[in-house]
Amino acid sequence: NWSMPNFIDKEIARIRKLVGDKAQVLGAVSGGVDSTVAAQLMKTAIGDRFHAVLINNGVMRLDECTQVQQTLQQHLGINLTIVDGSELFLGRLKGVTEPERKRKIIGETFIDLFEEEAKRIEKEAENTPNAGKVEWFLQGTLYPDVIESLSFKGPSATIKTHHNVGGLPARMMNGQGLKLIEPLRELFKDEVRDLGRQLGIHDDLVMRHPFPGPGIAIRIIGEVTPERVEIARKADHIYISMIKEAGIYNEMSQAYAGLDTSKAVGVMGDNRVYGYIIILRAVTTTDFMTAEPYDFDHSLLKRIATRIVNEVHGVSRVTYDITSKPPGTIELE
Ligand code: XMP
Repeated sequence: NWSMPNFIDKEIARIRKLVGDKAQVLGAVSGGVDSTVAAQLMKTAIGDRFHAVLINNGVMRLDECTQVQQTLQQHLGINLTIVDGSELFLGRLKGVTEPERKRKIIGETFIDLFEEEAKRIEKEAENTPNAGKVEWFLQGTLYPDVIESLSFKGPSATIKTHHNVGGLPARMMNGQGLKLIEPLRELFKDEVRDLGRQLGIHDDLVMRHPFPGPGIAIRIIGEVTPERVEIARKADHIYISMIKEAGIYNEMSQAYAGLDTSKAVGVMGDNRVYGYIIILRAVTTTDFMTAEPYDFDHSLLKRIATRIVNEVHGVSRVTYDITSKPPGTIELE
């Protein structure tokens, strides 16, 4: 007899039994609905023995760290540490253009920083009532992530390594003996949203579009540089704000502004300028395995393009991606 309140009670009981009354749990949070819901369940189950960690990988959206901090720490009272890894990530991404290399570098750098955090937390907890080993690692994996990873595991068919299922835990498990805890692994997205509402998470966050672990890095075609991240970030902020103001955010499953690293000519005053090409993407989908381009109102799209070219220095063109998935994907890489 499945119902949401039932699920919450059962899951909390299961977590308590699994973790026991000494062990500590480390959890990666991103500000997205899945990791926030997982973190809130964990906090309800074991309180301050749960440590949420947000790693700033240098390719997050504008003001994202501050927003996540406000929601998780101030609003939900979750025990949160923010680790600024932006220079480390961007340094390791320098010169890298191959999409799967980008994913791998980002995944591995995440693990390096989580391993450091696990050690720091254990050390800090020594001689306190919370003293205990970090034995568990929390992930907000959903049912479709599990399925997609399994189906892509053939030797020649690794289409994408979703690092929140694939590479990330594997090395941590080996190196640290950490065990994986995934309270959402039997749920679909709409169920997680329901769960989030029941747990008191505000609707803005519950309805947030998914954001990939490798962030803006897979929305920049080619090499990721701090300048390009900044441009993509500003364009994305304008795009998403205008979508929200128009009241159509919830009609889309995912939307973002990406950047093509080749340059196109434009005119500014009397001069020819070369600037980056911004690619706007908005899709509707139920399962993220197939998707349709969002049927955008043309005049709104034109207003968005004008604002981006006028306000984001270094951009000369704005395009709208009208490719379905398949054959396209939702992200650019
Ligand atoms: P694609 O681009 O494959 O994306 O059509 C489908 C969904 O998966 C997300 N995505 C990722 N999420 N790490 C993640 O955590 C990744 O490497 C990754 N690649 C794609 C994408 O945002 C979309 O929701």
